Amino acid sequence: MNATPELVALNFRKVFKGGSAQPQVFLCRRRTLVPASQAASLEADEHWVLKLMGSVPSIELAADGVGSCFAKMLGVPCPCAEVCEVDLDALTTAPADVRVWAQPGPAFASEWLVNTKNPASLYDLSRVSNSALFARLHVLDAWLEVLDRRKPDGSWNLLIDTTTSSGTFVAIDFGKSLTPCFGQVISGAQWIDNFPAELRELKASTELAEGLRLLSDMLDADISSVVDAIPAAWINEKQRQAVRQFLLDRRPKVAGRLAKSAAAAGGMT
Ligand SMILES: Nc1ncnc2c1ncn2[C@@H]1O[C@H](COP(=O)(O)OP(=O)(O)O)[C@@H](O)[C@H]1O
Ligand SMILES: [Mg+2]
Repeated sequence: MNATPELVALNFRKVFKGGSAQPQVFLCRRRTLVPASQAASLEADEHWVLKLMGSVPSIELAADGVGSCFAKMLGVPCPCAEVCEVDLDALTTAPADVRVWAQPGPAFASEWLVNTKNPASLYDLSRVSNSALFARLHVLDAWLEVLDRRKPDGSWNLLIDTTTSSGTFVAIDFGKSLTPCFGQVISGAQWIDNFPAELRELKASTELAEGLRLLSDMLDADISSVVDAIPAAWINEKQRQAVRQFLLDRRPKVAGRLAKSAAAAGGMT
């Protein structure tokens, strides 16, 4: 995530129904600044999936941004994420039922993965060729306290990339994480690990060790710079400080807790 958006929304293309944020595909323009001597900026038009301000509390956009950045750092498959600036002109291109709630401002943008599908069943997830990496996702989700990798209706905050025959999983939607930082229901003192049991069975112990190594090797400064890049329109400074503290405090606990839960489950596969 880059604190200064280089991505600007132009035109609405489509809406994804089902989730609470109702992500929208927009055609966006990327401006890359080039040296002043060239007196121009490079421009490219790209499709991105945007979570606009106004759909869900903007702390969820912050949580999504933070989760996506750390996914990259831990080698968890996840769409690239950025911040995209959305103005009133761009919003006028959206359908009326979106315009009633959508607000201008920074949107959480994820790379539109066109060749993906929502998993139809656990079977789809059990046959992906990168299932060992569920271990790294477990490290990440446990650290951030992701509450809904599997949603109460049985659907998943996961996509399957269908470009290969068995497919590969891609993690999406970290919106329901970091909730103790935002003064929501869950107590920060309590250890919550809602990573689904079905996925724990698919993961690999070598990848668990690798995920934990990458997490412990992360510098405090790297964690802080991810938190610093959250747009001020999404959280206030007290919340930003709470997020930073939560991540730093919880990090050393993750390894011990995951080893304990793996042992309780009868060892890691
Ligand atoms: N980057 C993406 N590429 C392709 N489809 C996406 C992407 N992000 C979201 N979607 C689609 O939108 C749906 C809802 O996205 P999600 O991030 O779970 O938002 P919500 O907060 O609404 O639950 C997903 O199940 C998927 O179908
Ligand atoms: Mg979702």
